[in-house]
Amino acid sequence: MLILGIETSCDETAAAVVARDADGRGRILSNVVHSQLEDHAPFGGVVPEIAARAHVEALDGIVARSLAEAGIGFADLDGVAATAGPGLIGGVLVGLMSAKGIALVHGLPLVAVNHLEGHALTARLTDGVEFPYLLLLVSGGHTQFVAVEGLGRYRRLGTTIDDALGEAFDKTAKLLGLAYPGGPAVERAARAGDANRFALPRPLLGRDSLDFSLSGLKTAVRQAAQAAAPLTDRDVADVAAAFQATVAEIVAIKARRALAVFTKQTGVTAPVLVVAGGVAANQAIGASLRAAAAAVGARLVVPPAGLCTDNGAMIAWAGAERLAAGLVDGLDAPARARWPLDADAVPKLGSGQHGAKA
Ligand code: KG4
Ligand code: ZN
Repeated sequence: MLILGIETSCDETAAAVVARDADGRGRILSNVVHSQLEDHAPFGGVVPEIAARAHVEALDGIVARSLAEAGIGFADLDGVAATAGPGLIGGVLVGLMSAKGIALVHGLPLVAVNHLEGHALTARLTDGVEFPYLLLLVSGGHTQFVAVEGLGRYRRLGTTIDDALGEAFDKTAKLLGLAYPGGPAVERAARAGDANRFALPRPLLGRDSLDFSLSGLKTAVRQAAQAAAPLTDRDVADVAAAFQATVAEIVAIKARRALAVFTKQTGVTAPVLVVAGGVAANQAIGASLRAAAAAVGARLVVPPAGLCTDNGAMIAWAGAERLAAGLVDGLDAPARARWPLDADAVPKLGSGQHGAKA
């Protein structure tokens, strides 16, 4: 089956065509991502109103390009999927309404996808990972361990009690005067830095906790930066390196704990740990997680960086998995600013759902 996927929940206008074979394997036929980076860079963060307008202007062209690059037309599609939340509501509305229009005009089933489910299922598209697996979702808005037990069956094992990991990277970058978006800028700066010059706290929230707390670390980074001001390139590199190393260590410790809990709960002794979301593109965190997984006999799967950050292929794939399971949404599917993965992502029977096209 061929699915068009549309993603507009933040600052990427994206559309992709993904094929799902009868045996459950996926192939990306096109994946067009238009970043609004330049529109938001002067403000040091995403401005919701600018994002929504930019999605309106770009989306039609991006959808047309995704079809052209896949070498197909609307008539070849078996369904259309769009992010219905969580995210910036103006942007979500643009993508979801476009998808509804396409579904209506071309008589296609609509799948209203939870953006987080898109991240969660990407490893099944890229690496054919089987259920169940442990997911560490680390993006600009989310930081959580999720037991992925099946399609629509997500159990949250831990989350952040304050900032998301990507947010912590973005704030650290801002403090250090680095470019937006912060994650890649901090990673670049950290390469030349000495991670041991500044001692930063490692909040672990007790021996067994799978939750994260990053606000204390953020404060410590600010104090280190203020103490060293005015900052030289060397100072910036050293603070960035200390921050990144501390985060990588915290994440690795938590991942080992989470893998132990996952194994205990599921009985899976050599589990797969999947990392998804924008921060999964960070190589220091990846290396630290790989070592943590290997130490307990688990396998780490990190999708390619371009599929870790927001894209249309992940939405198309989640749509394809849902469609294959007979899960379709009505044209009344709401856009949601908030939509937790564990509670409401479970398929809701009777809410405008009807049988999927074969
Ligand atoms: O998943 P994503 O593209 O959008 C959300 O759904 O949030 O994640 C974006 C976040 C941003 O906070 C960005 O700074 C962070 O991911 N990020 C990184 C890296 N690349 C992106 N953080 C650390 N290292 C990176 N290389
Ligand atoms: Zn995302």
